[in-house]
Amino acid sequence: MASQRQLVWITGGSAGIGRELALRMANRNMRCAVTARSRDKLEALARSNALIAAFPGDVTDRDAMSSAVDQIESSLGAIDVAVLNAGIWTEMGAHDYDAVACEQTMRVNYIGVVNSIDALLPRMIQRGRGHIVIVASVAGYCGLPRLVAYGPTKAALINHAEALMAELDGSGVIVSVVNPGFIDTAMTRDNDFPMPFIISVEEAAGKIVRGIERRHFEIAFPWLFALMLKALRRATYPLYFWIVRTFIKTEPEPK
Ligand SMILES: NC(=O)c1ccc[n+]([C@@H]2O[C@H](COP(=O)([O-])OP(=O)(O)OC[C@H]3O[C@@H](n4cnc5c(N)ncnc54)[C@H](OP(=O)(O)O)[C@@H]3O)[C@@H](O)[C@H]2O)c1
Repeated sequence: MASQRQLVWITGGSAGIGRELALRMANRNMRCAVTARSRDKLEALARSNALIAAFPGDVTDRDAMSSAVDQIESSLGAIDVAVLNAGIWTEMGAHDYDAVACEQTMRVNYIGVVNSIDALLPRMIQRGRGHIVIVASVAGYCGLPRLVAYGPTKAALINHAEALMAELDGSGVIVSVVNPGFIDTAMTRDNDFPMPFIISVEEAAGKIVRGIERRHFEIAFPWLFALMLKALRRATYPLYFWIVRTFIKTEPEPK
């Protein structure tokens, strides 16, 4: 049965940022449909809050995303907000370069978002309303050491969001891009490099929910870290590479 509550679809809802967003949005009386591969985790989350419902699926599977959207909308009503957050972290540089890892990271982080939008956007355009929220990263602003596989997936998402937003002008459908710095989740827990300005998942989810409610195009935080990386992007290349060499850990020596 359709309900009057806002309906939010969150991919990558079984853990980390997506799980915290679902809990926070449900506490604000929104209905949440969560998608990820781990059915058991999604079902446990759904049992913890009556406003959360599990719709398991792999974002790299286009048919699975199409059928997830079908199932969500036929059982809960029209999706108002889609937070396309599912993603993986792959640490890689020049000395451990791996095309398979690059392809897999792009398939999940970029094509996963594309598959989700493909399933939902025509419906939103037809209804003349909807909000697509793409979770990218400040890692997409510029090329950085160890981010040879991950960074381009997030750069592609930022570019994708900008292009879609321009296209959708006046359609009633809006797009946001979320560019977080480091957040303390399973994704970052094993990193052995410094993670400046790292924040808790609760703080991150709070900032994302506020940004969505205010319908901002870019939701970037922590603001100082985001600003520093945006400024780095605008530096001339000699300055850019000097800063990267001087302040950011570079490649480990080849074994
Ligand atoms: N943590 C950070 O510092 C940080 C910073 C900037 C941006 N981000 C971005 O924020 C998003 C969430 O990250 P997180 O830190 O919350 O990571 P996380 O704790 O590792 O959670 C990742 C989520 O994505 C899901 N997922 C992974 N592959 C999937 C697939 N093929 N199909 C469907 N779901 C899939 C996982 O669920 P299953 O394993 O159950 O499928 C899980 O729910 C990612 O896009 C990440 O790149 C994170």
